[in-house]
Amino acid sequence: MSIATNTPQSRSVRRTRARWSWAWVTFSSVAIAAYFVGQYAQGSLDTLAHSHTGLATTYAVRPWPIQIVFYFHIVFAGLALILGPWQFSKRIRMRHIAVHRTIGKAYLVAVGVGGTAALIMSPFDSVGISGFFGFGTLALLWMWTAHRAYRAVRTSDIASHQAWMIRCFALTYAAVTLRLELGALVLVQLPFTHADILTNAYAPLPYICWLPNLVVAEFMIRRRGRPALYLTTSRALAAAQ
Ligand code: HEM
Repeated sequence: MSIATNTPQSRSVRRTRARWSWAWVTFSSVAIAAYFVGQYAQGSLDTLAHSHTGLATTYAVRPWPIQIVFYFHIVFAGLALILGPWQFSKRIRMRHIAVHRTIGKAYLVAVGVGGTAALIMSPFDSVGISGFFGFGTLALLWMWTAHRAYRAVRTSDIASHQAWMIRCFALTYAAVTLRLELGALVLVQLPFTHADILTNAYAPLPYICWLPNLVVAEFMIRRRGRPALYLTTSRALAAAQ
């Protein structure tokens, strides 16, 4: 049975769906941040490299300033992932605006530090030139969307602020999509080969961990009636004027 679009019943269905989506995003963000950042608290990069933990093997042999930048990245990017989802809670925004502002400021600092660190790390990453361009572009877009969200709220343009925050958090969430995609790409290769499975699965991730997120973000922005980005031709623009 289909439900008409603006009845109390359809509004309640939409609210329930939004709550479940938010719960999933919050749960997956906190779980991924806790597990993947937490594993680097178990020992030094050298110790962790022996047990092949995460990317310790790559970063244990990097110069020490890059190792420090690596730790800055995982701590601040992890913080952004844990803080981000709470900014989308209507309840916090409506009832505790001071909390929303404080978390927002901490989130922006976390994106600034985590993003700068990611940019510095990108020429030293484990996937070479593909990682340099893919993760490097992600880092720049991440900081740029955060900057646009901040600029919009400073000028009290709340609709644009919300749109830029959706884009910014969609990029933060790349940390989750990357790990889900890595698992899926490993699994689909298993019936065919056992050679270089992890390397092959990781190869496209510097791009596919964030490009789909931006597309989903744009759909969400449109559905919520916030200012969306439009791909258009100069002829279409001229016709609209
Ligand atoms: C959104 C912008 C981000 C960029 C541009 C970025 C960039 C990078 C880069 C270049 C690496 C090294 C990859 C390699 O050497 O192959 C890395 C690793 C890592 N990043 Fe990020 N990152 C971002 C967001 C995040 C977030 C939100 C988290 C939160 C959990 C995170 C946690 C980590 C961790 C834990 C590692 C070590 C790899 C592992 O053990 O899984 N990053 N990141």
